[in-house]
Amino acid sequence: MKSDNIVFFSNVSKKYRIPGFIKHRYITAVDGLSFEVKKGEFVGLLGLNAAGKTTTMKLISGIVKPDSGVVEVFGSLTSVGNVEYKKRIGYLCELPYFYPYLTARKTLEFYYSISSDVTKSDDINSVLSEVGLLERADDKIKGFSKGMMQRLAIACSIIHNPDLLILDEPASGLDPLSINDIRNLLLKLNENGKTIFLSSHSISDVEKICKRVIIMYAGKIIKEMERKDWENSDLEKIFIETVSYELEKHKKHSH
Ligand SMILES: Nc1ncnc2c1ncn2[C@@H]1O[C@H](COP(=O)(O)OP(=O)(O)O)[C@@H](O)[C@H]1O
Ligand SMILES: [Mg+2]
Repeated sequence: MKSDNIVFFSNVSKKYRIPGFIKHRYITAVDGLSFEVKKGEFVGLLGLNAAGKTTTMKLISGIVKPDSGVVEVFGSLTSVGNVEYKKRIGYLCELPYFYPYLTARKTLEFYYSISSDVTKSDDINSVLSEVGLLERADDKIKGFSKGMMQRLAIACSIIHNPDLLILDEPASGLDPLSINDIRNLLLKLNENGKTIFLSSHSISDVEKICKRVIIMYAGKIIKEMERKDWENSDLEKIFIETVSYELEKHKKHSH
């Protein structure tokens, strides 16, 4: 592995077992995936539903183990026992859940304390302000809208000042104004040196902020592009053409 790789996947596969009465079924979520994310990059993982984006994010965070292949993050293998690399990751999961009777501030304090020995209230306030939740910081989460929960989830993923951000559908549930706020926040974090890897099924999110895009289909990478490849054309058109071609290929294959 080259030293400037933050994330390194080599021929990674992951199947899920679906239990049945007589026979188990297997779903291949990730199928021979190889890619790298280098220090300071801002990469978007684009794909239809069930393409394998969330599984890829879980593989990076170590929640899911590969059946085969190599996953390295910060130069070491991901494993449940290896907690040190996890302190350097901020992970926004697909469906964040919070304890409804805690306030936003208490929740953030808790997440902060998981990865840091010292928790400074200045840091809590500055992150709350960055995600636009400072005024609601001492309200219980049970009264929060979906967008506010998503802002809190983003706050929890950056509170320990991680080097790598893994964001699974960060724009999910946000209104256009909030999306714009979060977009600007992520651009600022990237400018300040954070490596960002986000997934989305929305082209407009990815197009505006990412510098590189990886398109996945059925667990495989079907296209990789840099900003210059889509800046003067239409990423949505490229995406639809690329994915439709794969769909047709799969249809022919299954007949
Ligand atoms: N825990 C799980 N158990 C069984 N199947 C799963 C599980 N998680 C994901 N899958 C399946 O794996 C495939 C890829 O899912 P996922 O990684 O969530 O894709 P995406 O995030 O792109 O929608 C889908 O077919 C999905 O149904
Ligand atoms: Mg997903």
